[in-house]
Amino acid sequence: MADVHVVTGAASGMGLACARRLVAGGGTVVTADLEPVPMDGVVAVTCDVSSADDVARLTAEAAGHGAIRSLVHAAGVSPTMADWRRIFEVDLMGTARILAAFEPVMAEGGAAVCVASMAAPLGAPRGSDANLETLLADPLTPDLLESLAALPALADPGAAYSWAKRGVIQLVALAAPAWGRRRARINSVSPGIIDTPMGRQELEQQASMEMLRDLTPLSRIGDAEDIAGVVMFLLSDEASFVTGIDVLVDGGVVAALSYAGGG
Ligand SMILES: NC(=O)c1ccc[n+]([C@@H]2O[C@H](COP(=O)([O-])OP(=O)(O)OC[C@H]3O[C@@H](n4cnc5c(N)ncnc54)[C@H](O)[C@@H]3O)[C@@H](O)[C@H]2O)c1
Repeated sequence: MADVHVVTGAASGMGLACARRLVAGGGTVVTADLEPVPMDGVVAVTCDVSSADDVARLTAEAAGHGAIRSLVHAAGVSPTMADWRRIFEVDLMGTARILAAFEPVMAEGGAAVCVASMAAPLGAPRGSDANLETLLADPLTPDLLESLAALPALADPGAAYSWAKRGVIQLVALAAPAWGRRRARINSVSPGIIDTPMGRQELEQQASMEMLRDLTPLSRIGDAEDIAGVVMFLLSDEASFVTGIDVLVDGGVVAALSYAGGG
């Protein structure tokens, strides 16, 4: 049976770039998005990753083609696209739904990559709020959104996005042992500013993004292929001993800010 690869958020940007590479590599590629996926040669499923029913339908469709060799979870919304609640529903709870649904159907030797963001190390550094990190460790707990609604700082979509992506990085690390017992790996990538419809919208609408762009050591913003290349590495057997980690793919922005004055 051919390898099965699943890509969420495949209609645009990084997900589309990853889906194109996986199709070129052969096997069956199952895509998931709210929007139509602009490429041939895939099994396209219309799916809202924040819906339990949609994710169950996607998983059944994908597993019907065989055990899953690769999962790329790129679907997401950004601070200028949604309010705090929708950001948590899609970016964090959606990730938790996708991981819970796909873990049991991954092939031995399979791998998953979730897309987080450099917003996590910049806006929600690990260890900066232990109580919130504990709350976000179980994103499908029934009263999560009520608990988050009681935290005024998270009403700001930028803060919500940073913490939702911190939650994604944490979820991946916490999931690694269970995935490991199935001989499967799970990692995340944290992109910097990337030239996709989402990245362009954030650059246009948030002055702070221009500041970050201007101090990028590589003197450019990234493109979807910069991310797809790292995702393909993490999915491949070249990364066979890499699991539970987050890989920053940000052109050096976080390094520049963390070691300000160095150079
Ligand atoms: N572009 C950037 O600068 C940047 C930076 C850091 C992190 N990210 C993250 O990278 C990932 C990919 O973003 P992109 O830049 O390729 O964005 P994009 O907007 O080009 O693509 C995102 C895709 O996700 C889909 N999507 C949104 N909500 C969905 C849902 N509920 N269910 C299913 N599909 C849904 C959209 O329809 C779209 O096709 C996102 O998780 C984003 O948060 C982006």
